[in-house]
Amino acid sequence: MSAFRSDLFEGKVALVTGGGSGIGRGIVAALVEHGATVAIMGRNAERLEATAAELGSRCVPLAGDVRDADAVTALVEGLVARCGRLDVLVNGAAGNFLAPAATLSSKGFRTVLEIDTVGTYNVSRAAFLASMREAGGAIVNISATLHYGGTPMQVHAASAKAAIDAMTRTLAVEWGPAGIRVNAVAPGPIEDTEGLSRLLPEGMRAAMERSIPLRRFGRIPEIADAVLFLASDAASLVTGAVLVADGGAWLAGPALM
Ligand code: NAP
Ligand code: COA
Repeated sequence: MSAFRSDLFEGKVALVTGGGSGIGRGIVAALVEHGATVAIMGRNAERLEATAAELGSRCVPLAGDVRDADAVTALVEGLVARCGRLDVLVNGAAGNFLAPAATLSSKGFRTVLEIDTVGTYNVSRAAFLASMREAGGAIVNISATLHYGGTPMQVHAASAKAAIDAMTRTLAVEWGPAGIRVNAVAPGPIEDTEGLSRLLPEGMRAAMERSIPLRRFGRIPEIADAVLFLASDAASLVTGAVLVADGGAWLAGPALM
């Protein structure tokens, strides 16, 4: 049972990038469950349609690549034309893999920066121009904790997420006067996700869980709850914040995710 009122997002329109899978999908399910109409953006149209079919008629697939600024603008403008406005944007789209800095190609580094950082910028700007500059709104960026320390094999993702944190604070200041709050959630390792399966080194699972103060990895609905809080009126004075949801993992040891 949810900790939030079931009509928390009644009548609200949301867009979740990366909403077709993993943590993003969990955020979409929670927003739909609490009354929102939610568009989901990703490259894989088939997976988006399957997710939308599972989550019901208030979930709308919008296939597109967050790196393509013109396509993003057209999709966001189309959404606003159909739904009247955009109240909540969650930037969850990301790409990652383990790679040593010495052998990661320039294209590999740039690809992750383009998906995570430029993608977050493209969609945020499109949301601002199409709706939020007039009507206000809430943006929640999905960050990480791997850049709080130094995480080997993650120079691309750490750089991308550090830039997202900087963007979160900058846009909170620049767009605050328009009634837009910009915050981020930084998950630690989360069970049953593509991120965890790509990044958890072979044989390290038990040791990693033992190193976390709450002695476990997080669960997708726990990240969704953190996003619901920041997107809702319960956080009406909160902007420019990065809410870490990791069971205390990064405080206690090397930030592995
Ligand atoms: P995931 O299921 O692979 O989610 C990533 C999503 O991004 C996918 O739905 C993917 O859809 C979409 N995406 C990738 N490139 C895109 C592009 N160019 N344009 C549009 N959409 C794109 O992985 P996840 O583990 O749930 O991660 C979700 C978020 O949480 C990410 O921001 C990640 O960095 C963050 N995070 C995860 C963990 C963890 O433990 N899993 C920890 C810290 C932070 P398509 O393939 O259809 O494009
Ligand atoms: N190690 C080193 N470099 C890698 C790599 C790996 N495991 N995977 C991809 N790259 C490099 C590629 O080599 C390529 O550059 P190069 O071949 O010129 O050297 C560059 O990244 C682009 O790869 P490509 O597959 O063409 O990019 P894409 O846009 O199709 O896919 C990725 C982006 C690589 C991030 C892909 O893994 C993806 O789509 N991920 C989404 C899901 C995800 O990562 N989820 C976890 C989120 S935490």
